[in-house]
Amino acid sequence: MYLSREEEAVYKGERGETLARMMEILVALGDIYDAERLVPVRSVQIAGVSFKNIGKAGLEWIADLQGTVTVPSILNPAGMDLCRWKEMGIDVDFAEKQQQVIQAYRKLGVSIDCTCTPYQIYDGLAGPGDHLAWSESSAVSYANSVIGARTNREGGPSALAAALVGKTALYGYHLDENRRPTHLIEVEADLRGSDYGALGFLVGEMVRDGVPFFRLSGLESQPGTGELKALGASMAASGSVALYYVENVTPAPPSWGEEERISLGREDILEVYAAHPTEGAQAVALGCPHCSAEELEGIARLLEGRKVVKEMWVCTARKTAEQNPHLVRIIEESGARVYCDTCMVVSPASESLGKIMVNSGKALAYLPGLAGVKAGLGSIEECIDAALGRR
Ligand code: F3S
Repeated sequence: MYLSREEEAVYKGERGETLARMMEILVALGDIYDAERLVPVRSVQIAGVSFKNIGKAGLEWIADLQGTVTVPSILNPAGMDLCRWKEMGIDVDFAEKQQQVIQAYRKLGVSIDCTCTPYQIYDGLAGPGDHLAWSESSAVSYANSVIGARTNREGGPSALAAALVGKTALYGYHLDENRRPTHLIEVEADLRGSDYGALGFLVGEMVRDGVPFFRLSGLESQPGTGELKALGASMAASGSVALYYVENVTPAPPSWGEEERISLGREDILEVYAAHPTEGAQAVALGCPHCSAEELEGIARLLEGRKVVKEMWVCTARKTAEQNPHLVRIIEESGARVYCDTCMVVSPASESLGKIMVNSGKALAYLPGLAGVKAGLGSIEECIDAALGRR
């Protein structure tokens, strides 16, 4: 891979040991994937935050690094609400280790916004055509597909390397040739809310790491950002889709190749619900990916003046919660909890919730494997009805 004179100097250790180690990661990836050169990134989103996932070895690796990030960099969800971890039932030892992870990132100048939806809380992290180094799979999918930016799904170390160096290797989804649709998915059905998560769950399993192009017909209204977020998150979890298109909704593909054609209808979506029944759910968790202000408002409307009879979590970014205190108050007056900085999948606290009812295809895909609990899928209204004891 070609390195400029300055990049070469960093690689050789002339700008310090940490930067040399980071450049080594970028060059190794570039060599593996045959990248021509490095490219500057506009922002970085770093996975490897929950102590549950990175453990002691990960903490030591991050804490050992020196220097400051050179581009706006924010974090993925942590293993707990950084303020209300006791309420979540997190033990003191885990909480201490989690705070040390956060402290290590803070020392490097990373912004302590632990969220998988950075695009909901900051303007200016990503725009059409921007090169990024984002990690979390739903955020990567949203950036590539809805914003029209360009990012691979970075691992924690390579994202941190990109944050400190300010660049990433130019390969994969940074290049037009890898952004062509591989599958044409024709869907004839009116889709709403969690149907997009169910559709994504199905299509992710079918196309694996392909690039699906959706042609939707029979819709009463076009999908909004919340539905697109859910669709992408689901496909990234049941498969490993990092880029998709929706005809006349998302930015268009740069070119076309040979696509495989798949036709789906309402009955296929209903099968996903039927395969993941909600009977016996002891808890409800919403906010995968993290709720937007609009989604908090919808949940607040359904809960206002009512009391939940099951444990119910609503996960969001701290900034979103802080900017909408009235919605948080309404939700919490029902007995549900609005947890920030974390989620039902990356927090060890969900392991004791029993079977969890979700409205998210991504949480549905990940909860059994990563939290060891069963999950059932329903619409947001059904989830809230269950929490209220109405079903
Ligand atoms: Fe976000 Fe956690 Fe879901 S990181 S996408 S809320 S699994």
